[in-house]
Amino acid sequence: MKIISFDTDNTSYQMGITDDGFLLHLYYGPKTGCDMDYSLTMYDRGFSGNPYDVGNDRTFSLDVLPMEYPGYGNGDYRSPAFSMRDSSGVQGADLRYRSHRFLPGKYGIDGMPAVYAAEDEARTLEIVLADETAGVQVTLKYGIIPSRDAVTRAAVIENISDSTITVDKALSASLDSLSGNWDIIHFDGRHGMERLPQRDAVRRGKISIGSRRGTSSHQHNPFIVLASEETGEDYGSCTGLMLAYSGNFKAEAERDQYGLTRTGIGFQDEMFDYPLAPGEKLETPEAIMIHSDEGLSDLSQKYHALISEHIVRGPWQHKRRPVLINNWEATYFDFTGDKIVSIAEQAAQLGVEMIVLDDGWFGARNTENAGLGDWTVNEEKLGGPLSSVVNRIKDLGMQFGLWIEPEMVNEDSDLYREHPDWAYTVPGKKPVRGRNQLVLDFSRDEVVDAIFEQISAVIASADISYIKMDMNRSIMDVFSRTDKVQHYGKTMHAYVKGVYRFIEMLRQRFPELLIEGCSGGGGRFDAGMLYYTPQIWCSDNTDAIDRIQIQRGTSFGYPIQTIGSHVSQVPNEQTGRIVDFATRGIVAQAGTFGYELDLNLISDEEKEEVKKQIADYKKYWPLIANGSYYRLHSPEKDTETASWCFAAEDKSEALMSAVTLDNHCNNPVSYVRCRGLDPAKMYHVEPVLGADTQPLELSGQALMTVGLPVPIIPGEYKAWQWHVTSKDTDNLNNKEN
Ligand code: DGJ
Repeated sequence: MKIISFDTDNTSYQMGITDDGFLLHLYYGPKTGCDMDYSLTMYDRGFSGNPYDVGNDRTFSLDVLPMEYPGYGNGDYRSPAFSMRDSSGVQGADLRYRSHRFLPGKYGIDGMPAVYAAEDEARTLEIVLADETAGVQVTLKYGIIPSRDAVTRAAVIENISDSTITVDKALSASLDSLSGNWDIIHFDGRHGMERLPQRDAVRRGKISIGSRRGTSSHQHNPFIVLASEETGEDYGSCTGLMLAYSGNFKAEAERDQYGLTRTGIGFQDEMFDYPLAPGEKLETPEAIMIHSDEGLSDLSQKYHALISEHIVRGPWQHKRRPVLINNWEATYFDFTGDKIVSIAEQAAQLGVEMIVLDDGWFGARNTENAGLGDWTVNEEKLGGPLSSVVNRIKDLGMQFGLWIEPEMVNEDSDLYREHPDWAYTVPGKKPVRGRNQLVLDFSRDEVVDAIFEQISAVIASADISYIKMDMNRSIMDVFSRTDKVQHYGKTMHAYVKGVYRFIEMLRQRFPELLIEGCSGGGGRFDAGMLYYTPQIWCSDNTDAIDRIQIQRGTSFGYPIQTIGSHVSQVPNEQTGRIVDFATRGIVAQAGTFGYELDLNLISDEEKEEVKKQIADYKKYWPLIANGSYYRLHSPEKDTETASWCFAAEDKSEALMSAVTLDNHCNNPVSYVRCRGLDPAKMYHVEPVLGADTQPLELSGQALMTVGLPVPIIPGEYKAWQWHVTSKDTDNLNNKEN
């Protein structure tokens, strides 16, 4: 068997080509130092067919072997990565190896997000498979980034026949694990409660998650982890499959009849229906795979590094983001230019660096029911042109940011009255409304261009530093007026590419702009979006206690400095919960910090807290942005206290945070155990926040094995924070911020 293999710093990947050209998957995991084809076994298995090429050998069946990119049509009946129909409707293809080559550098994907790397940091492997009879060629692409232990995958499907073929399923990556008991961890939820981890054993049958909403969605996230049963935060084998894509997707895990586990991620195949004309190609989105043998924290930290260094781009990639105040929860649609300036005046005095004017500044947008699509400034409401408000903000020494929702239109808008055909509606059918709005056909260039021209004229009219790009409904009634025959999957993919093109044009025209992604909070929180927007509003739920869960779930795949998080008012707008100002502060600090309330309405004591919170955020930013993030508590087991920490890579310091979740009479004491320290070093423990704690001198071992007791004090949702610094090293914190 001919073997194709490559390594990252800590892992190996191996494939085998059989004599008949079938591409088998042999291994992905910690380096073994030997060829792994010995692990294949051949037995005659009933009802598992045999390729014609192997003659009478009934022991060779693709139905039981581990496959690299399994296609329906050659005897493998498990869930395929690829399936197609030819022009006469014949289902299936028999993909065989044709060639492969290694190239320097990392491939890119046209008009789509992809991991990038310097030429000497990465390699590309291309493997060409084909079935000339079915008329298809599939090029598997692998990006190898050794220092990040990352392997990216994508597939390019090309019609090599002279008639149209239809792709029914095209995953970006498929991974067969020969044996073992595996769990799949996925990140699910709903609007306002996104990305809560759920761990299920993969048993016989299939677990499948995904989105049909046109966005990656609040309900499921395009990221799964395949973990061995015993894997925890700091031990065990785990492999992540993350899709850098913001539209319909599918992730699945299936255990077959002989105990092999097949995992895959890629395009959603339900309703996919993607026709390819002769010569036409379809490139799948990119899957990012990382393996760790050291548990989920290590896996998360590797994803954080990969996304921070190889997905996020532009001038804001490594810069501390301005501390902002957003007017949404303070005013909703009910504001004037003067009101915005008055919020900014108070905020500026307390050290806030930017004000963001949210929804309602344009067209006839005074409620949710009108105005989307009309991106002209409502000067009557603002009391003059946008620049007059922006200039008043600038005079306060603050920056100005603006909200947009380019993909949407209200029926009550001039745009819809003029171009009703630009919205997705099926002729003769009443459309499904979401938030009383319709979705614009962003698969059409002229629609994207027209909206872009409107919005970029507004941005150019004033000194605008930041854009929050929102998207507030799931998509339905997909009907593109440009096509006589509708192909849902093709249109939806073109829609997502249209969204990417829109943001890319914004980035090109306004290179310094900081863009925050948003879809009703975290309905489009994915690595695809992070290629265009260095941060994403994490959830419409600003309740600090719910946010602990939401941000913890988000942290499994995504770096902390990409997570939009704000201190809002109490009782909280979404839950009615009352939480201390300090607690709201340390939760928001584990993200891109800001405020979302009218600071004129808080007490003098709280105003002093705002100043301290901002100073702390600036002080600890290098640790938050560059340190390793650890989830310290498990919500299932540690129900009384939540905790997390940031530890410097050189183990010189850590910032530990804890929040009590549940208060009872005569409570047991919770201990917060730090991670990421040097057990042999002595550390100074300085309380930053919280009652009844004193400075201490403790070893890393003590801090990590016994930890710090959280004082029992009356009241709910109290917060503690400790800054732990080693006594003999130069701390990150002393470096220039
Ligand atoms: C949903 C967002 O997530 C909110 O923060 C806010 O911007 C509203 N949309 C405005 O309509």
